[in-house]
Amino acid sequence: MKVFITGISRGIGLALAEAMLQEKMEVYGTVRNLNNEDVNGVKDLKKQFHQKLHLIKLDVTQENVKEQIVQHVPKDLTLDILINNAGVYHREVEPAIERLSRENLNDSIQVNLLGPILVTQALLPYLMNSENPKVANISSILGSIQFNAAFSSSYDYRISKAGLNMFSKNLSLEFPDMVTLNLHPGWVKTRMGGEDAPIQPQESAQKLLKVILKSDLSQSGCFYNLEGERLPW
Ligand SMILES: NC(=O)c1ccc[n+]([C@@H]2O[C@H](COP(=O)([O-])OP(=O)(O)OC[C@H]3O[C@@H](n4cnc5c(N)ncnc54)[C@H](OP(=O)(O)O)[C@@H]3O)[C@@H](O)[C@H]2O)c1
Repeated sequence: MKVFITGISRGIGLALAEAMLQEKMEVYGTVRNLNNEDVNGVKDLKKQFHQKLHLIKLDVTQENVKEQIVQHVPKDLTLDILINNAGVYHREVEPAIERLSRENLNDSIQVNLLGPILVTQALLPYLMNSENPKVANISSILGSIQFNAAFSSSYDYRISKAGLNMFSKNLSLEFPDMVTLNLHPGWVKTRMGGEDAPIQPQESAQKLLKVILKSDLSQSGCFYNLEGERLPW
């Protein structure tokens, strides 16, 4: 089985790549900068699985996302699973609407919303080569409009993930023979989730993988948590 995951330098993406490699899958994983000091995890993984892990340098906000991807994957690739994982969260200082900057709004939308859309666009031809293609968009419960019952700022992040949720739903309707999942990975101890988060990246990754592998077309176009339970839009 061949998978493509964005943002495997650290956090949930790194744990997902490791879990999938351990399951003998072939992984195409994107990293922005292999010279960063904190990418040792992915370098170790490359040493351990050097034939099964293909690293692709990619910033999902760059102009030529499609060209970058196409250049680094085999022409006849059969891609079984795409996981749009790369994401960004800008901490806000209240009063939120007053302090919300155009820069953070733009960055969140570029990375969390336009990134997954453009990466998916680039990889659709390869997904169509698979008999059972799946796209898993790593969203967040913070992107749920129904769940947002009490004000808790994060305008830019919430809006970008709500947009991603709509992208997942639309994609599932345009491609009824492809499983499209929208997933909340839990509150995870990563640079984004912070030290107080109760879930380790490895646990989140194992559970996400289980939900993805078990999923079928009847589940396409919906929003799920780590236990595979439906979440409100
Ligand atoms: N942690 C949580 O509690 C939590 C909760 C809900 C949803 N999520 C979602 O889960 C996903 C993974 O989050 P995480 O907790 O693992 O975060 P993380 O530790 O901050 O890792 C984020 C990853 O995204 C990459 N990335 C950021 N901007 C990028 C860009 N412009 N182009 C390409 N890659 C980029 C980062 O690469 P660099 O190393 O180059 O920065 C890194 O690999 C995100 O979509 C996030 O929104 C996380």
